[in-house]
Amino acid sequence: MKEQLSSLKKEFEAQLKHVSSLLQLEALEQTIFGRKAGAFTTLAKQMKDVATEQKKAIGEMMNTVRLKIVKELEEKREALQREEMKKIAETESIDVTEPHLPKEAHGHMHPMSQVEIELSELFRSMGFMVLDGPELESDYFNFEALNIPPSHPARDSHDTFFIKDHPEWVMRTHTSPVQVRLMENNKPPIRALMPGKVYRNEAISAKSYCLFHQVEGLYVDEDVTFAELKGTLVVFLKQFFGEDVKYRFRPSFFPFTEPSAEVDVWWQPKGKEGRWLEILGCGMVDPNVLENVKIDNEKYVGYAFGMGVERIAMLKYGIGDIRVFFDNDKRFLKQF
Ligand code: PHE
Repeated sequence: MKEQLSSLKKEFEAQLKHVSSLLQLEALEQTIFGRKAGAFTTLAKQMKDVATEQKKAIGEMMNTVRLKIVKELEEKREALQREEMKKIAETESIDVTEPHLPKEAHGHMHPMSQVEIELSELFRSMGFMVLDGPELESDYFNFEALNIPPSHPARDSHDTFFIKDHPEWVMRTHTSPVQVRLMENNKPPIRALMPGKVYRNEAISAKSYCLFHQVEGLYVDEDVTFAELKGTLVVFLKQFFGEDVKYRFRPSFFPFTEPSAEVDVWWQPKGKEGRWLEILGCGMVDPNVLENVKIDNEKYVGYAFGMGVERIAMLKYGIGDIRVFFDNDKRFLKQF
């Protein structure tokens, strides 16, 4: 019995050296203390057959061996658990130094861009393609080709920024030069929307800024009519401002359209007197302009319009001062 016990202990310690996981440890524990076939359990069952005078000594030895094995099992278990935690810490680590980006740090589109995209989508759905042109223009595209020769009084109203040492260049004062570029390079039918920045040397106030956005529209084909121009703009007005928008078409003058009109929208600030606000100019493309771009003006007609994007955004969102679009004050921008 004594020999059996000590060889059990030796055998256990030899096997314990090879244990490298908690699972293996559990299996080893079963071979010793398993209720049915565990080696120690089996020996303990033989106690009843031990001669009475030996019972005390063998019992004591059994207990020592049992306690020793239990202790070794426990130590091994702890060591294995530590190792496992270390492995987890190494492979599944969380980088606490990684910067945390709060929600507020995410940017979004400027209201001007949002309105520009809304307009592009709206006119795209009516068959307009969308394109742009240069902001630094030649005098020819900005004025001459649009039927505004050098001495024409219309030049005065455009408050042009000129480029030092380059008398033939200007910062474009409207998006209409993009019409000219488009017609020079394409044959009718042409139907396009041309959004972009324009520049005017005006005194800065709540109503005007040195730069602003326009959206130009052009449609040239064999049988384009003023009624179609009006119909298209009314669809725009109702979709952009809502069905109950109050608007009026008013006769006007532009050197590059004939006849010409301007569209006003009713502006009603809360608790204040309302008034008409001009939002766009439009008309039938002047035959002289078609001739300048070598489009047969006997065969083709066209309409054009140009609107101020800040103007319509101010109307839609009830903004009273154009300068807020350029201040980049987060408290303003966050509202869109
Ligand atoms: N270009 C004109 C302006 O800036 C607007 C306009 C465009 C008028 C097209 C008629 C046709 O004032």
